[in-house]
Amino acid sequence: MSFDRSVKIAPSILSADFADFGREIRAIEDQGADWVHVDVMDGHFVPALTFGAQAVRAFRHHVKTFMDVHLMISPVDPYIEAYAEAGADMITAHVEAESHIHRTMQAIKATGKMAGVSLNPATPLESIEYLLDTVDMVLLMTVNPGFGGQKFIPSGVEKTRRLREMIGDRPIHIQVDGGITPETAPAVVAAGADVLVAGSAVFRGGSVDKPEIYGKNIRAIREAVEGAV
Ligand code: DX5
Ligand code: ZN
Repeated sequence: MSFDRSVKIAPSILSADFADFGREIRAIEDQGADWVHVDVMDGHFVPALTFGAQAVRAFRHHVKTFMDVHLMISPVDPYIEAYAEAGADMITAHVEAESHIHRTMQAIKATGKMAGVSLNPATPLESIEYLLDTVDMVLLMTVNPGFGGQKFIPSGVEKTRRLREMIGDRPIHIQVDGGITPETAPAVVAAGADVLVAGSAVFRGGSVDKPEIYGKNIRAIREAVEGAV
C-alpha cells in the first residue's frame, strides 16, 4: 500500500451487531468505509472482552478494504503471530501494555504486517519518540479505551498537532479513536490526523437492513472535515 495522508474513515465494528459481523462489514464497506477497525479487548488491559484471533480470521473473509486490528490486550507479544495469521493488515498495540514496546513493534514488522502503536489519553508523546523510525501508524486514543460511545477528550487535538510535528516527513499515519463525530473530527484533521475511527457516529440509527444510514453517517464525517485538511 502506498502511503498517503488523505483522510480515511475507519468504522469500528465494536458498534456493529455482534451476531452479524459478516453482513455488517460488507454494509459499511459498500457505504464508503475506507478501513475496517477491529477492537480486540481482553477483559484485563481494558474491562470489556470482545473477540479473539479466530473471530478476526472469520472477519477477514468479508473485509475487502483494509483490516486495522487495535489490540487492547496485555501482554501483546504472545499473540502477534495469531493476529498476523488471522489476516490483519495493521496490528496496533498499546505502549502501556508491554514493557518492551520497541521489541513488540519489531515483532509485528517481522510478520510482514504494518505496525501501529497506541497511546492512552494520559500517556505523553515522549513515550514513543524513539519508536518513530519503526512504526507505520500512531493511534492517539481520544477516550480511555474500553467502550464505544464515550465523549471526546479535547486535549487530543493539541496532542495530534504535536505528534504531527514530531513525525515530520516520515510516512506515519495518525489515527484518532474515541468520540469522533462530525463535530469533533474537523479539529483533529486540521491538527494532522488522517485516519478517523468512528463507532457510534457511523452505526448510529442504521442496520444491515438500513445500510444507507451508515452511508449517510460516513458522508457526514467526510463532509465535516472537507476544508480542514
Ligand atoms: C474504544 C475503541 C474504539 C471505539 C470507538 O476503546 O478503541 O475504537 O469503538 O467508539 P466511538 O466512536 O463510539 O467512541
Ligand atoms: Zn479502537
